Amino acid sequence: MRTDTPQAIYLKDYTPPAFLIETVDLDVAIETGHATVTAALACHRNPAAADPSAALVLTGEELKLETIRLDGRLLGQGEYALCDDRLLIHAELPESFTLTTVSTINPDGNTQLSGLYRSKDGYFTQCEAEGFRRITWFLDRPDVMAKYTVTIHADKAQFPVLLGNGNPVGAGDEEGGRHWAKWEDPFRKPSYLFAMVAAKLDMLEDWFVTKSGRKVRCAVYVEPGKLDQCGHAMAALKKSMKWDEDVFGLEMDLDHYMIVAVGDFNMGAMENKGLNIFNTKYVLARPDTATDIDFQNIDRVVAHEYFHNWTGNRVTCRDWFQLSLKEGLTVFRDQQFGMDMHSAGVTRIQEVRTLRTAQFPEDAGPMAHPIRPASYAEINNFYSATVYEKGAEVIRMIHTLIGKDAFRKGMDLYFARHDGQAVTCEDFVAAMQDASGLDLTQFKRWYNQAGTPKLVVRGAYDAATKRFTLDVEQLYPATAYEKRLEAEGKPVARGAYHLPLVLGLLDADGRELPLRLAGETSAAGTQRVLSVTEDRQSFVFEDIAAAPVPSLLRGFSAPVVLDYPYTAAELTHLMAHDSDAFCRWEAGQRLATDILTAGIAAYQAGDGDSLAWIPTTYADAIRALLGSAFAPGGDPALVAEALALPSEVVLIEATDGTVDPDAIHAARLALRRHLARELKGPLAAAYHELKVDAPYSPEAQQAGARALRNACLGYLAEIDDAESRALVMTQFDTADNMTDTMAALAAIAQFELAERDDALARFLDKWKDEALVVDKWLMVQSTARAADTGQRVRALLQHPAFDIKNPNKVYALIRAFCAANPKHFHAADGSGYAFAADAILQLDAMNPQVASRIARAFDRWRKFDTHRQSLARVQLARIQSQNGLSRDVAEVVGKALDS
Ligand code: TRP
Ligand code: ZN
Repeated sequence: MRTDTPQAIYLKDYTPPAFLIETVDLDVAIETGHATVTAALACHRNPAAADPSAALVLTGEELKLETIRLDGRLLGQGEYALCDDRLLIHAELPESFTLTTVSTINPDGNTQLSGLYRSKDGYFTQCEAEGFRRITWFLDRPDVMAKYTVTIHADKAQFPVLLGNGNPVGAGDEEGGRHWAKWEDPFRKPSYLFAMVAAKLDMLEDWFVTKSGRKVRCAVYVEPGKLDQCGHAMAALKKSMKWDEDVFGLEMDLDHYMIVAVGDFNMGAMENKGLNIFNTKYVLARPDTATDIDFQNIDRVVAHEYFHNWTGNRVTCRDWFQLSLKEGLTVFRDQQFGMDMHSAGVTRIQEVRTLRTAQFPEDAGPMAHPIRPASYAEINNFYSATVYEKGAEVIRMIHTLIGKDAFRKGMDLYFARHDGQAVTCEDFVAAMQDASGLDLTQFKRWYNQAGTPKLVVRGAYDAATKRFTLDVEQLYPATAYEKRLEAEGKPVARGAYHLPLVLGLLDADGRELPLRLAGETSAAGTQRVLSVTEDRQSFVFEDIAAAPVPSLLRGFSAPVVLDYPYTAAELTHLMAHDSDAFCRWEAGQRLATDILTAGIAAYQAGDGDSLAWIPTTYADAIRALLGSAFAPGGDPALVAEALALPSEVVLIEATDGTVDPDAIHAARLALRRHLARELKGPLAAAYHELKVDAPYSPEAQQAGARALRNACLGYLAEIDDAESRALVMTQFDTADNMTDTMAALAAIAQFELAERDDALARFLDKWKDEALVVDKWLMVQSTARAADTGQRVRALLQHPAFDIKNPNKVYALIRAFCAANPKHFHAADGSGYAFAADAILQLDAMNPQVASRIARAFDRWRKFDTHRQSLARVQLARIQSQNGLSRDVAEVVGKALDS
């Protein structure tokens, strides 16, 4: 086994800090070319420390230490030592004392976007997870919670807006055209929630009155000139505040709640106390610049960061292994919010798609980890789909198992016990267990075991006894994670999961049957939550008059792969009749996957183009599905979801054995073309029927109509004749909103046509000054199937519209190509892999967090043929041999090569 993977740190090595910090008094003077940071830390020994005489060791990164004082006395050489990123205090320390450091930092040269950095309109911070140490010397760990004040000084004309956490407590002018402002945060917080801003920004202001009658000032700060793009984010914030009061009884606790948008940002947004900093992508929106999905994402991210105020800030994480304590729970909360605000069914389907596209591959690859990992090399690599998305699924399972009311009681108990504390996932589960009375001991395996369990379910009907028996077996083979820990001599125990299997039974007419389990005296409804706890278990339903069709895993009640041998007829039956939106959609996805599996085999055998693998009845099922959107009670948004065939990424993951990306691409495209030709009439009719004439609104109903209409457009475009091209170009030319514009542009971008080049050129010309729209222009090209995509993406690296220093641009052009365009990324000539490796090496020198995210494209290299594997291995080895490679990329590449 290789040992190039950087040194791991282990959860079991956690010890409480030797010192605690009561207050932090910061003074940050921003000058041209540098900033001076003075930090006064009121410290005392931690009575809970393991070693009562341990030395004080502060952490700092890229800081130049100017002076250090202990209770005002300047420390000399020999009284402290600097070693790598650590500052050791040798001087004798009283029980409590104030340590004051003065350091110089270089925010203008900070390309990592962690700590204090320059972006176009000023200076911004990002401290999670370990960015505060790039601002000043500190005990930069979340179990050290302090009260902060910060005084910011900067040039007044260039940086008129000075912001910090909490409340403004003073401001004034200084010599030389400078000014200052002081902010004080009344709440104790870990350093990762610190934030400050010095910038030129416009502001939208509004007020929210809390349920106890307190007035909160809400402010959204954006780049000058963009105030007309902030309204939606502000509305989302106020809706979130109301929702958290109504659903969880949680009230805003500060007088100021500020959101600042910045164009250069590694992730989506950050929940700093009272001063959220957001990627512009999740703030700015206008009907002509943002799509329906953008509007929806803004709602969700604004809600997510707001919900963190309680789940994350008031109660925070003891250490970074507990990240899912705040992230899984807060994603769960923003998902519940999304289901209440938009269509519940569509929201759930989209979440499952995200899980399958991003989390299942992670769980099956070299970076597999449980939602609470036992070890990591670089914490930034664990802001993962597993910690976030699977973490939310785990919370959702608790919610399903104990029910809504007990869950609410559990949340109340969690806050009653832990407000103001830094706690662990056990503490959360204990509150849920104590509030509900349900023993969650076995359930906690979800926190420690990696991998997507497989649930093998078989149904047997016995006409003589009128019994329907479901045999349930769970499989959870060890993943790369368990294998690595085993090899390191730190094995993790594995055992059966406790999970909710929500189900119903349908009769031949599609009616839901009353469910009575053996041993029960009467039926209890038509939907049950079965508690699965054993490796193998059987459930017997009584009084079932004829063989039913089981509707399993309703609402996707557990993050598992379900194996049930449905026939095509049963799937069509569920598609038409299941009362559960997820199961209806899922039946359609299964039917399509079964057909595509046959198609992939046919293409590999050289016979794909005969289309003999497509059942003649399939187009009829899809015709009925399309028609159902217009029947009474029909939901166009759900039909749009159902019309989308499983993506190539999902099909890759569903492949047992070696993946053939070309056959997957060919089969999927052939099935789309087949449906387009067979259903041309109904698709065109639906397209015209669904036209929205009312003024644009991102609300669910209009957005649903647009989603289905644009799905129809996408199919019709596959016919690829003069008529379909004219339809697409007419939409492109006449659309009055970005949703319709992008749908048309995406349709035309698939083809190597003059129309494509013309549309792309006109689009860029119109939108070159709107950075977020330029990102769309890049992404529509990087995700296109057109044969020249690889060359075009390489050429776009040199285009003035691209900027490798901007994460949004990198994600739109490079990551989208590597992660969402498997046909081109896995090109048999290795050009995609070489392109990715070049980009990773170039990015690593500037921004390791972003480089590492691109490197994850290699996670699944072992699933491909030996030829592709050898090409990928060459690139992985080339990255690994780079001198000075970041820990971030070294961990990802090292684990990939070890797999
Ligand atoms: N806590 C943030 C969230 O989920 C995530 C985040 C924002 C982040 N920026 C980051 C994590 C930078 C790591 C590094 O809402
Ligand atoms: Zn979060």
